[in-house]
Amino acid sequence: MGKPLIVTIDGPAGVGKSTMAKQLARHLSIPYLDTGAMFRAIAWKLGEGAWDWDEARIQAELDDMDFGLSGVGEDSVLSMNSTPIGNEVRTEQVGMWASNIATLPVIRTFLKTAQQGLGNQVSLVAEGRDMGTVVFPNAPYKFFLDASVDERANRRFKQLSDMGKPADLNELKELIAKRDHQDRNRSVAPLMAADDAITIDTTEMNKAQVFTALKDRVA
Ligand code: DC
Repeated sequence: MGKPLIVTIDGPAGVGKSTMAKQLARHLSIPYLDTGAMFRAIAWKLGEGAWDWDEARIQAELDDMDFGLSGVGEDSVLSMNSTPIGNEVRTEQVGMWASNIATLPVIRTFLKTAQQGLGNQVSLVAEGRDMGTVVFPNAPYKFFLDASVDERANRRFKQLSDMGKPADLNELKELIAKRDHQDRNRSVAPLMAADDAITIDTTEMNKAQVFTALKDRVA
């Protein structure tokens, strides 16, 4: 078996990374890795305020955690301690908690090792904030998706409405802008495009257009 193929997709909250990662992974018949879900699952498990704990306490919790990945394309299943990570972590609040713990080197070091461990075993479309810059710097295909805050808030709003979940558009805008600021300005592995990443501004593009742009470059 050859070396696993790694495709990275980085970008800010709500830009559509997961949707594109799933589609591209299906196209390539490989799993996709939602690294935001790893941060979210840890944040959810540790609970509110864990970002203020001392490092030893957090490390002790991390020592009991491991991640597994199975399936292909949109059927990829990411598990923590053998339990699939569910929708309970996919709220804006847990996203903010995840962004908070994502500033901590102890968490980032742990997850970088876990993510690289998965990428050593299987081919991946890996999506997150630091996939192309820090975790998989040698990946042959790197993308950075971007879009305006307004457009991302609108997309989230529509997604939530389609799921029958009430949302406040202005509140979504504020939360996304706050998370962007924290993710872009932290000192360890901040959100940014790798020098060799292809940046795609998706503000004026629909999903099919973005997918074609990615697929054509990986083909
Ligand atoms: O992609 P997401 O919204 O599920 O990510 C939740 C938070 O996790 C995000 O605001 C910052 C953090 N994160 C990160 O720091 N690095 C990653 N590779 C993925 C997510």
